[in-house]
Amino acid sequence: RTIFVLNGPNLNALGKREPGIYGGKTLADIHADCLSFGAAHDIVVDFRQTNHEGVLVDWLHEAGDSAVGVALNAGAYTHTSIALHDAIRAISVPVVELHISNVHAREEFRHTSMIAPAAKGVICGFGPHSYILALQALDNLTR
Ligand code: DQA
Repeated sequence: RTIFVLNGPNLNALGKREPGIYGGKTLADIHADCLSFGAAHDIVVDFRQTNHEGVLVDWLHEAGDSAVGVALNAGAYTHTSIALHDAIRAISVPVVELHISNVHAREEFRHTSMIAPAAKGVICGFGPHSYILALQALDNLTR
């Protein structure tokens, strides 16, 4: 089983970006944690990051053809992107929306997700461990 872990804008700056909110782990650290989870659960983790909305759309389409599920941290596009909502609806594999921070405890503009209505479920607020919780959910859904 292949699961895509897709990361959107500014997540390449994890570790140095607002560490009080996002913690000190880098995206490379989180990538390594996801690979360990995958190795222990018979999952091939394909972990990617882009700052470009359309690239996320392309990767979601690709996941629809070659993955069993997607863990998606769409960053700020979560709150704005109808294109991501439509791309999730366009594929038949489950997509778990995830966030490192608890978006509901933050600014009002982070309380709305354009993608949550199209996602299988949402995980937020557990720091980098949110990625592992999303992979656990997908492992369970695709077994
Ligand atoms: C985030 C939350 C978003 O509101 C923000 O724009 C991000 C990161 C998170 O993982 O907590 O870039 O998705």
